[in-house]
Amino acid sequence: MNLTMIGSGYVGLVSGACFAEFGANVTCVDKDESKINALLNGKIPIYEPGLDDLVERNVKAGRLSFSLELEKAVKNSDLIFIAVGTPTRRGDGHADLKYVYAAAEEIASYLDGYTVIVDKSTVPVGTAREVARVIAKTNPDADFDVASNPEFLREGSAIGDFMRPDRVVLGIESDRAETLLRELYRPLNLISAPIHVTNLESAELIKYASNAFLATKISFINEISQLCEKVGADVHSVAKGMGMDKRIGNKFLHAGPGYGGSCFPKDTLALIRIAQEHGSSCRIVESVVEVNAAQKAAMVSKIRSAMGDSVSGKKIGVLGLAFKPETDDMRDAPALSILPALLDKGAEVKAHDPESMEEAKKILPETLQYCDNLDEVVTDADAVVLMTEWNQYRGLDLEDVISKMKGNVFIDLRNVYENETMQKYGFEYFCVGR
Ligand code: UDX
Repeated sequence: MNLTMIGSGYVGLVSGACFAEFGANVTCVDKDESKINALLNGKIPIYEPGLDDLVERNVKAGRLSFSLELEKAVKNSDLIFIAVGTPTRRGDGHADLKYVYAAAEEIASYLDGYTVIVDKSTVPVGTAREVARVIAKTNPDADFDVASNPEFLREGSAIGDFMRPDRVVLGIESDRAETLLRELYRPLNLISAPIHVTNLESAELIKYASNAFLATKISFINEISQLCEKVGADVHSVAKGMGMDKRIGNKFLHAGPGYGGSCFPKDTLALIRIAQEHGSSCRIVESVVEVNAAQKAAMVSKIRSAMGDSVSGKKIGVLGLAFKPETDDMRDAPALSILPALLDKGAEVKAHDPESMEEAKKILPETLQYCDNLDEVVTDADAVVLMTEWNQYRGLDLEDVISKMKGNVFIDLRNVYENETMQKYGFEYFCVGR
């Protein structure tokens, strides 16, 4: 089976390499020459654990290739996946679909023989039908179907999520398309991953509703964490007690500085807009977005009050910048709102992150200093803030840390450490909801 993956970013590259691993012949196409050239030279332009080996293995096997030539790839493909970016449009929170429709138009003129065009990108309800209209208008003779196949990949565990999915969702409009896509996903039959076939609109909405619900769980526990601090409850224990109810489940109930990333912030806003456009309410998701912003702001107040109500002139060492561990992605990371606020209040801030400092330098204020290692972050610091729970920050040599610091304040925004342990080492320990 030959397929073209349009867009070689977090979604397209992982999906293309995994489909190749399933045995399909995959051509990943992208407009970004530097990205394609990097890939042609065996360099992976993003950090995703295991992706380099997966790509190398499939390139060597001749099942995975990279190209700038969309026409050649399309003519040779049974399936074409659209995995381009759908960022939040400036100003109105809509998903920006210009790259999706540009790809659809370009594909249309190259179609040769029955082809299924599959939306892999997260797109508003109704986009697949619009893609079909664009293609039919551009090339009335084209023999094609469109389908929706949203991804549920978490950055940092994307390959595992692809290879062992909880479900595959297929929005299908014809038996031909269903046959082709079931054939493509046949290797998942071996692990009996359920394939949920539905119509286009339902498939598109499943993606938004799933992400919005996961974001709801996070904002819910974050709001509960605020109450925990007031009443002397421990949010870890509350989350544990809640999660034992199988109807609630114990995942995505970790209180923290608020969710970030390239999906939850964008998809919650897009879902609100989709509801508005169709005269339907989305009040729960609206409050999820508000609570998330409030949680990030609450972290700034937490840091300030932990340092005697003023950070001006104080040295703050920050561990982690990425929106979560195991990724270099800084999109909507809590650090992007928390650190500038501290710098604005006159703090001197220095930070370390194993993967995302290059990305961070492009978007955080110049006044932020970057450290090559842990020691530089904690040396002479009045306070240390644990922002992202990378494994290497989970087992700190606390005696060594406090001996190098000037002050003794440790603000743990990911609840990695325990209060009594930290006090034993002489820290003044602050965390979230405990
Ligand atoms: C998410 C969805 O999980 C995935 O299914 C979808 O395809 C893409 O969006 P991702 O954004 O990569 O994946 O990461 P995820 O692990 O979901 O974390 C998202 C954010 O929520 C991170 O900022 C993380 O720190 C935060 N989070 C997650 C919490 O604050 N608490 C939790 O319990 C879980």
